[in-house]
Amino acid sequence: MGLLALFLYILTISTAASGGGGGDEAALLAFKAGFSRRSSSSRLVSWNSSTNFCNWEGVTCSRRRQPTRVVELDLPSSNLTGTLSPAIGNLTFLRRLNLSSNGLYGEIPNSIGRLNRLQRLSLSYNSLSGECPANLTSCISLKILDLDYNQLGGHIPVELGNKLTQLQMLLLTNNSITGPIPYSLGNLSSLRNLYLDYNHLEGLIPASLGKFPSLQELSLEANMLTGEFPHSIWNLSTLRVMGVGLNMLQGSIVANIGEKFPLMRFFGLHENRFNGVIPSSLSNLSRLTDLYLATNNFTGSVPPTMGRLQFLNCKNMLDKNLLGGQLPRSIVNLSTTMQLLDMEGNSFSGTIPDAIGNLIGLSLLDLGFNPISGEIPESIGKLTNLVDLALYNTGLSGLMPPTIGNLTKLNRLLAFHTNLEGPIPASFGKLKILFNLDLSVNHLNGSIPKENLELPSLAWILDLSYNSLSGRLPPEVGTLVNLNKLALSGNQLSGQIPNSIGNCEVLEFLMLDKNSFEGGIPQSLTNLKGLNVLNPTMNKCLALVTLAICNTCV
Ligand SMILES: *[C@@H]1O[C@H](CO)[C@@H](O)[C@H](O)[C@H]1NC(C)=O
Ligand SMILES: *[C@@H]1O[C@H](CO)[C@@H](O)[C@H](O)[C@H]1NC(C)=O
Ligand SMILES: *[C@@H]1O[C@H](CO)[C@@H](O)[C@H](O)[C@H]1NC(C)=O
Ligand SMILES: *[C@@H]1O[C@H](CO)[C@@H](O)[C@H](O)[C@H]1NC(C)=O
Ligand SMILES: *[C@@H]1O[C@H](CO)[C@@H](O)[C@H](O)[C@H]1NC(C)=O
Ligand SMILES: *[C@@H]1O[C@H](CO)[C@@H](O)[C@H](O)[C@H]1NC(C)=O
Ligand SMILES: *[C@@H]1O[C@H](CO)[C@@H](O)[C@H](O)[C@H]1NC(C)=O
Ligand SMILES: *[C@@H]1O[C@H](CO)[C@@H](O)[C@H](O)[C@H]1NC(C)=O
Ligand SMILES: *[C@@H]1O[C@H](CO)[C@@H](O)[C@H](O)[C@H]1NC(C)=O
Ligand SMILES: *[C@@H]1O[C@H](CO)[C@@H](O)[C@H](O)[C@H]1NC(C)=O
Ligand SMILES: *[C@@H]1O[C@H](CO)[C@@H](O)[C@H](O)[C@H]1NC(C)=O
Ligand SMILES: *[C@@H]1O[C@H](CO)[C@@H](O)[C@H](O)[C@H]1NC(C)=O
Repeated sequence: MGLLALFLYILTISTAASGGGGGDEAALLAFKAGFSRRSSSSRLVSWNSSTNFCNWEGVTCSRRRQPTRVVELDLPSSNLTGTLSPAIGNLTFLRRLNLSSNGLYGEIPNSIGRLNRLQRLSLSYNSLSGECPANLTSCISLKILDLDYNQLGGHIPVELGNKLTQLQMLLLTNNSITGPIPYSLGNLSSLRNLYLDYNHLEGLIPASLGKFPSLQELSLEANMLTGEFPHSIWNLSTLRVMGVGLNMLQGSIVANIGEKFPLMRFFGLHENRFNGVIPSSLSNLSRLTDLYLATNNFTGSVPPTMGRLQFLNCKNMLDKNLLGGQLPRSIVNLSTTMQLLDMEGNSFSGTIPDAIGNLIGLSLLDLGFNPISGEIPESIGKLTNLVDLALYNTGLSGLMPPTIGNLTKLNRLLAFHTNLEGPIPASFGKLKILFNLDLSVNHLNGSIPKENLELPSLAWILDLSYNSLSGRLPPEVGTLVNLNKLALSGNQLSGQIPNSIGNCEVLEFLMLDKNSFEGGIPQSLTNLKGLNVLNPTMNKCLALVTLAICNTCV
């Protein structure tokens, strides 16, 4: 009897609760109705009248409140495809709404502004469009606003900076937001993460952004920001991430950067118009893992102490600047986990340090377009993770070390336009996944080792033109069955062109001119259906009868 009474009592309470929260239930059902029935979300199966809505998957209610109200709606990665119902604005007790990584499209309803208790909103990784709703600025409790990876347009609402005073994270990466960065954003004194990158923002960076007392991550990358980089930003000493690359910003790096940013991990200024020197104090940023300074107008030399950046484990990009001076010897002390070292297109001189082989983590080493000189150190053969080795347009001279043949992960070996001499090491035949081998315009001599032609994966370019190579073209050339371009122009190759060349079935470019080949063009060339450019001119007795097989003959 007593039990039954208790049971009835509980039943009454829960009915009252679900009845009283009927507004929220109706809103949830309207929210569900916004999604196409065919969207295969297994999560919404439980959303039916057989259970109280507080038990529906992804729904959390407040137990303290009568009637019960929804306080969290958490359905990330749930295959929800459709529009966001304006009924969402009826869930006025929501503190957290996470619909990240679904298939939401259409606009964010203005009714969202009714959610004045909302603290965390994530609608990232959807296809929401329309303007970033001004009504969002009524969600005055927001701490996290994450709209990354949508197609939202319009301006950043100016009131956002004055009203969302609790905001800690503002994440708008990869949308289509236009207009200026509002000056008022500087009022967001709790802000820790500001990501406005990959949008169409324009104008100046407001100096007010230097006011954040505890900003840790600032990314304004890939917009159309112009003008002078505000000096105040160099005062944000709590920053771990500063990314302003891919804009049109001017300015120079503050001289005492190394002392100002003890926590800095990511520093990216690439593809802007920064100038001045790279301060030597930069090498005191002892936690730096990513450094992008490429494609600016930096001048002077690289700090000789650069090698102290022990944690630079990922990327070190200094390419396409106006840097000069000696290639710093200390680079050999950089981290062994560093993957990319790109110093292309500067004016570095001096030699490659012998101990370059210490940097065993490197997958890319690009020293191209620099007046460096001396020989390629043998230790380069220790960089067995290298995929790209670029030494072109330099003053490097001497023999190519056979140890390069140990770099068995190499895809690209580019050493054209240097002063290399001597034979091509036969060990290059070990580079089984080489894709592009360009040693053109050097002083290489001797014959072409047949091993170098037994590289069936060589799928793009073999360019040995303008050297002093002699002897016959080995018949092994026929094993290059995936090659797109073969250039041997300007050597002293002689004898007959091997018939096996007809096996190189996907050749589009074949340059054999300025050699001493004799005999005819092999009949097998008619196999090369895709041949576009054939240049057999200036050889001894080449019959030109077969020229009709290609479209453009030089
Ligand atoms: C949402 O609230 C409004 C105003 O209170 C009401 O008119 C509307 O019917 C509600 N919508 C749903 C789906 O409950
Ligand atoms: C989403 O759809 C995929 C593919 O149809 C399915 O494998 C996955 O289980 C679904 N996830 C949910 C939460 O419904
Ligand atoms: C209703 O939800 C329950 C889980 O709460 C589930 O077991 C049941 O299959 C659902 N019914 C329908 C008709 O989808
Ligand atoms: C926008 O937000 C305000 C403030 O919460 C609210 O009164 C208004 O109804 C919202 N607009 C719409 C269209 O829901
Ligand atoms: C939303 O959910 C995703 C996936 O679980 C999570 O990574 C993200 O941090 C959540 N966002 C918020 C604001 O809680
Ligand atoms: C931005 O998002 C689009 C898809 O919405 C994607 O194709 C593109 O790669 C993204 N850009 C970046 C830089 O992540
Ligand atoms: C926000 O910033 C603007 C411009 O910097 C200023 O005029 C305004 O008083 C600030 N508002 C608050 C609430 O701090
Ligand atoms: C940077 O901070 C220093 C010391 O707090 C202050 O004197 C200087 O005015 C600030 N510079 C800018 C541009 O805000
Ligand atoms: C670098 O300076 C040169 C000469 O002053 C100028 O022509 C060029 O546009 C500048 N490059 C960048 C990226 O600002
Ligand atoms: C780097 O830090 C060391 C030790 O804190 C200091 O002695 C040195 O002057 C700093 N270097 C530069 C270039 O600021
Ligand atoms: C590399 O680091 C070692 C140990 O700290 C030091 O003795 C050496 O001088 C450094 N080499 C260069 C070239 O800076
Ligand atoms: C590297 O290459 C050289 C010359 O080809 C060879 O003598 C040596 O054994 C190789 N080292 C390793 C570790 O494979």
